[in-house]
Amino acid sequence: MSDLQLTGAKGQLFNTDIRQQLDDWIAKYPTGQSQSAVIPSLHILQIENDGWLSEPIMDALADYLAMPKISVYEVATFYSMYELQPVGKHKINVCTNISCLLNGSEQIVRHLEKQLGIGLGETTADNKFTLKEVECLGACCGAPMMQVDNDYHEHLTTEKIDQILGRIK
Ligand code: FES
Repeated sequence: MSDLQLTGAKGQLFNTDIRQQLDDWIAKYPTGQSQSAVIPSLHILQIENDGWLSEPIMDALADYLAMPKISVYEVATFYSMYELQPVGKHKINVCTNISCLLNGSEQIVRHLEKQLGIGLGETTADNKFTLKEVECLGACCGAPMMQVDNDYHEHLTTEKIDQILGRIK
């Protein structure tokens, strides 16, 4: 989906369905505090835009929530869950933080890179996978781990990775 497809009939960047989703979140906060809904709003817009956030979308959200554009950018660039470039159909986040590092995340990354034929931060030519390095995902007891789309996979081995990729491919 492109920015254009987010556009509503009256020419707003967001269509009626998206505006309703945003309004539902805004309604959870006190009047005049619409900027408090920025995190879930970015999440909604990212889903609606094939997994990433463009500048026009973030600018339109800033206007919609009556907050400075720079404040939306600050949130979108702080959290690794937001993408500012197009991504593949499946996003693989590999944790390389301390617990995962001590339990072999370097080998996990090398294996994923070899199996997918891409490096960290890249997307496969068929647009199917994007591979990302991320900070701790809060599953340290399952280290080494990775997140594939919405699912966590823990206690990874190269064999386990092959099974996971095989199921998705
Ligand atoms: S260090 Fe990897 S999940 Fe916490």
